Amino acid sequence: MNIRHFLTLLDLSSEELKQIINRAIELKAMRNRGEVYEPLCNKVMAMIFEKSSTRTRVSFEAGMAQLGGHAMFLSSRDTQLGRGEPVEDSARVISSMVDVVMIRTFSHEIIENFAKHSKVPVINALTDDYHPCQLLADMQCFFEHRGDIQGKTVTWIGDGNNMCHSYINAAALLDFHLNVACPQGFDPDATLLAENKNRVSIFRDPKEAVKGAHLIATDVWASMGQEDEQEVRLKRFEGYQVNPALMDLAHQDAIFMHCLPAHRGEEVSDEMMNDPRSVVFDEAENRLHAQKALLEFLLVN
Ligand code: CP
Ligand code: NVA
Repeated sequence: MNIRHFLTLLDLSSEELKQIINRAIELKAMRNRGEVYEPLCNKVMAMIFEKSSTRTRVSFEAGMAQLGGHAMFLSSRDTQLGRGEPVEDSARVISSMVDVVMIRTFSHEIIENFAKHSKVPVINALTDDYHPCQLLADMQCFFEHRGDIQGKTVTWIGDGNNMCHSYINAAALLDFHLNVACPQGFDPDATLLAENKNRVSIFRDPKEAVKGAHLIATDVWASMGQEDEQEVRLKRFEGYQVNPALMDLAHQDAIFMHCLPAHRGEEVSDEMMNDPRSVVFDEAENRLHAQKALLEFLLVN
């Protein structure tokens, strides 16, 4: 049997991605009505975390419980993975006992290697290169607030990082244009850019990049694993803060997203977090609903 993994958004077709977004909206309504829906009864998910997390852990663990299943938190600090047991061996052992594995790790090759040796679906819960689960929630949020994103313009401000790469994949699948405003030296991956040259435009000036944009998104300037670069990055990203004045230059219906956690005063102003155009807390809540739709897609359909 062909196992479906979710390592990047490109593991889904455009239709499947839209189906998951629509289903996430339905599952959210069902939960708000208090409906009990437990299709994952007796199913177990292993959650391997090699980096910190609040939203990802809480949403997957709560989501599995709400769907009638169980989630098991595994920190690399406490498992043999952290003591050097090969990824291949860990994949074969862990996947022989559970129904789905979620991994947050550093290099994307680790998760690809795990998936290659896994008997069950593997979900990418963030690598250095991609964060596809966050895009499910972000796209659900846009659909809820503004409808279909096809033909719209999205502006990414800041680092050409894992989130930015997943926005590029989302642009390809959902047919929107992505403006990326980043300082020189912090562009997204060159290969990914070349593959998407018709839908991604690089800017150095955030004010130019937000013109006409319907969604403005940003993220921290130093991601997990880049803590040593924090000071240098603070200087290099000066002028790339999203604040109400920058939002005023975007489309009049523009909304603001941030995957969180946010560094208020750096990539986003405190005022912007509380601005009526900010949907960051809806976006965060959607991690729960979107991942429940993903789990149902991978394990039930
Ligand atoms: N956005 C996100 O993935 O948050 P956590 O790091 O808290 O999981
Ligand atoms: N780019 C950030 C996202 C955190 C959710 C990081 O990788 O740390």
